[in-house]
Amino acid sequence: MRLCSAALLAAAALTAGVPGVAPSPLRQQVLQAPPMHGVKFNPLEHMSGIAPYHDAPGANISPPKGCRSLAMALLIRHSSIVANDDEWEDYMEPFVQRLDAHRAAGAALPESGRLAFLREWQSPINNDNLEQLTQPGAHDATVQGRRLRKLHPHLFPPMELGRPGGKEALAGKVKTPFKVWTASSERDIETSKAWIRGAFPEWQRGDDGEGDGKFLTLVKVPNKNPDWGASLTPHKVCKGFSKEPGKPEAQQWLETFGPRPLAALRDMAPEFPWELNDVIALAMLCGYESVIKGVGKTEFCSVLQPDDFRDFGYWNDIKYHHFVGYKSPMAPYLGMPWLNTSLHNLEAATTGKHPHLQSGDEPAPIPPNATHTQFLLPYFTHREEPPVVITALGLMNQTAQYDLPLDHNPADRVWKTSHVLPFLGHVGIERLTCDAGSEGSDYIRVVINGAVQHLEHCQSGPGKSCPMEQYKAFVAERMEQYGDIEGACGGIKT
Ligand SMILES: *[C@@H]1O[C@H](CO)[C@@H](O)[C@H](O)[C@H]1NC(C)=O
Ligand SMILES: *[C@@H]1O[C@H](CO)[C@@H](O)[C@H](O)[C@H]1NC(C)=O
Ligand SMILES: *[C@@H]1O[C@H](CO)[C@@H](O)[C@H](O)[C@H]1NC(C)=O
Repeated sequence: MRLCSAALLAAAALTAGVPGVAPSPLRQQVLQAPPMHGVKFNPLEHMSGIAPYHDAPGANISPPKGCRSLAMALLIRHSSIVANDDEWEDYMEPFVQRLDAHRAAGAALPESGRLAFLREWQSPINNDNLEQLTQPGAHDATVQGRRLRKLHPHLFPPMELGRPGGKEALAGKVKTPFKVWTASSERDIETSKAWIRGAFPEWQRGDDGEGDGKFLTLVKVPNKNPDWGASLTPHKVCKGFSKEPGKPEAQQWLETFGPRPLAALRDMAPEFPWELNDVIALAMLCGYESVIKGVGKTEFCSVLQPDDFRDFGYWNDIKYHHFVGYKSPMAPYLGMPWLNTSLHNLEAATTGKHPHLQSGDEPAPIPPNATHTQFLLPYFTHREEPPVVITALGLMNQTAQYDLPLDHNPADRVWKTSHVLPFLGHVGIERLTCDAGSEGSDYIRVVINGAVQHLEHCQSGPGKSCPMEQYKAFVAERMEQYGDIEGACGGIKT
């Protein structure tokens, strides 16, 4: 890499991926503490996909000794939404309608106790605001963007680029804008814009986070265009994919654990026509009201008991296990396009000229699976994608020991979607560079919501990371096994 001026040198000092420049010390080891930190039992840590972002247990993103982060691909679920339409229709709406009818009829509700609030409560969810990003959700995305910039400044293009009154020489060197990719649904786009507002200075981020087009571009990847969609939203182009798997199994588990909380509800409000599904509705309302109104601002989180919330978490685990986990014959196939794309670009990050300053002599490539030279590769998408990537990686696979039982909630299970799927939950594939070892100096590690994972058959690197060459062989092998997405899906929708 050639540096042409003192200004450039100063800017490059922010980029630790540059030979000869010391890595910036890692200041903090976690991305974010759990919401309601300090509370002994926190239902929001047992809510699977309906919770504000919280790190997974054991989160610690410090690189192993002698190593630093060289490049990183992040597959991030969008931030908090008002409610998922199916969850609203199937569980919450029937409860809300019955409650409204009950009150309209002047029937009794408790005057005190944990359910007294239902006398006045109004649903903040309705058919017009489903799936919309919430205000706390946008805020959380901004906080996460800001936090990542702080933790990994060297992965971002220099702040100095384009600063008003800054050095022209610097701006002239940038030929390709830094790209952030997002699935094309409104909630993904709004999340990525909020994230960008936290991660990039105002002179790069454009008016509202779409990027100024010169230093930064937000690339909207059409959800259903198979040329692009297979890399960010494969489940939306897969003909055989359906949201039904896991529903009967989860229902069976509800019939197992549900009668206990249902009986408690009937004790508390005997006049109300409770149904078994209300156990799910109340748990969901704890999560959704928390992400709509803000953590700690809903009464629903105190209605059920800790064990009920744990069982609700397991209800979700069962559903996702069949839907996008190891019980889904399609899941690993759906995870492969991103695994292949992220590897390709983690390799490309260090090829040729300096990624953030001098790249892009060719016309800017746009699709996520083209070649991009940037140290950080952020991709925003839907809740289905992190789990399918986990199966493609073979992580959290306990199926050799047992299949998820429907008659009890096994405490030792490793498939815990509450650790994977909160809003803004993410799978990170990080390329580390370490003081030269026998196998070369670059390694891959997988980090899920701050918690480092170890690949089953590849952990000989520092901190049980996977040597780069072995990781490449692993992905190639998985491609052989699970590369035929079209076959597994029974066709690709166009
Ligand atoms: C990108 O994806 C498209 C559509 O799946 C495919 O045709 C193309 O070969 C891929 N390109 C690369 C470099 O992987
Ligand atoms: C996987 O990535 C490689 C580049 O690393 C690319 O050549 C190949 O086309 C990709 N495969 C698919 C199916 O996209
Ligand atoms: C999960 O583990 C089982 C049992 O070891 C194995 O047969 C299966 O291939 C694994 N699934 C994936 C997608 O890696």
